[in-house]
Amino acid sequence: MLEIVFTDGRIGSKAVKIIGVSENAKIVSKALNDDEAALVKKAVAQSGFKGKNGTFVEVFGTGGKIIVAGLGDKPDAVSLQKLGGSLAKKLFKDAVACYYVEEIKGCKLSLAEIAHNIAFGLTIGSYRFDKYFTKKKQEEYPSLEQVIFKVKNPEAVNESYRRFAALGNAVRYARDLCNEPANYLTPEVFADDIQRLSYLGLDIEILDKKALQEKEFGMLLSAAQGSCNDPRVQWRGKPDQEAFDCGLVGKGVTFDSGGISLKPGAGMGDMKRDMTGAAVVVSSLKALALQKAPVNVIGIVGLVENMPDAMATRPGDVVTSLSGQTVEILNTDAEGRLVLGDIMWYLQSNYNVHTLIDIATLTGATMRALGNQYAGIFCNNDKLCNELIKAGEASDEKLWRLPLGEGYNKMINSDIADMKNLGGVNAGGSTAACFLERFVLKGNAWAHLDIAGVDTEDKGTSLCPKGSTGFGVRVLNYYLNAKN
Ligand code: BES
Ligand code: MN
Ligand code: ZN
Repeated sequence: MLEIVFTDGRIGSKAVKIIGVSENAKIVSKALNDDEAALVKKAVAQSGFKGKNGTFVEVFGTGGKIIVAGLGDKPDAVSLQKLGGSLAKKLFKDAVACYYVEEIKGCKLSLAEIAHNIAFGLTIGSYRFDKYFTKKKQEEYPSLEQVIFKVKNPEAVNESYRRFAALGNAVRYARDLCNEPANYLTPEVFADDIQRLSYLGLDIEILDKKALQEKEFGMLLSAAQGSCNDPRVQWRGKPDQEAFDCGLVGKGVTFDSGGISLKPGAGMGDMKRDMTGAAVVVSSLKALALQKAPVNVIGIVGLVENMPDAMATRPGDVVTSLSGQTVEILNTDAEGRLVLGDIMWYLQSNYNVHTLIDIATLTGATMRALGNQYAGIFCNNDKLCNELIKAGEASDEKLWRLPLGEGYNKMINSDIADMKNLGGVNAGGSTAACFLERFVLKGNAWAHLDIAGVDTEDKGTSLCPKGSTGFGVRVLNYYLNAKN
């Protein structure tokens, strides 16, 4: 993995020299000597480079390679992260580079913040999932090992970088989990993986199938019973603490075939990512632990595989949830809400949790409504909703509020049980959210993030290659850190 270093010392001559310039600004940098400055000026004039974010000019001076990096118009934290991501690609075949951190005119960020955001972008933008290639060509692997940031007070800058370093680590971890094929990442393997995080001081407990049966997680088990991969529930945090600032709940369907209500074949492979919510919860706790963030957070994830089998739940079956409420399962492909309802109930009834955020790749309907620009947020509390939306803007994992309400809630009343797991053809995101709301204890603040449209990157961006995005780790981390 790419190493990030902050220093005010001498920089070796092998390092590619990088300077940033805003859109249409003059290039003035103390990092360049007169010869270099002249060379750069000439190259910039010839290339038509205007400083647009993510564009570069390359010059070979006597001292080695120089890259002029466009910072764009009015650079801010997010645009600097994106620039970092573009730099990761630009430097793909170099070994060491040094970014000379200088003030940006009209930009409110401190020098440390400028360095932090670019470094964070480099860290997540250089992410690759390539473990299953056996014959990848040498040229296809990045050779970039280290990016140095030349700054004043490097110790202080390095210390405050911990927050971003941890977050970068957590985002990459979430992507690794989500990109993993479902034959490797079964509920059991996922649980083992999580257990290994106890080295960070996290308390981790895993309930296996037997424990889930004893405790009567009837709904969750109904979604798992068609699979030979047994379900797991796990949670973490510090259960001895008085009250938790927040409880996180994640959908961890390691593969969603739809069950007996089988999904169509096209694109079904993407359903290996139907555990993104769980990966985000686990990674969020990892980030907080690495950051030593002063917040008390507990998380729970429900890990199941939704498969068709002679033992599988049939459409029309009625099951009893952990809360005691009965559910008529009209579509076995609406399994996420079954998993979440039970674990939400478990968390609230066993721990001192009054603010609850669940995150899940829950509905195609929300994906259709918002595409990959926003995740949907459904929330019973305006303050919580606004804080999350704000964190979404700051972290560039944006949330758009969608409605709950009695009109939608009525749509999941069943003729023969307390509720059914299916609304009508319309407003699928809202009826799913109303289903979850029936498992929120009275008085608790709750937000539901439906990330079905944003969990996957189809084309690849500066900050994320094709595949899993790990959407949610950043917005939750910004939100939880802002609580103090
Ligand atoms: N995991 C899917 C939702 C999903 C769809 C995630 C597309 C990512 C991309 C979920 O379990 C599901 O199948 N939902 C159904 C619910 C329906 C049967 C009520 C859906 O949205 O079609
Ligand atoms: Mn499904
Ligand atoms: Zn699903």
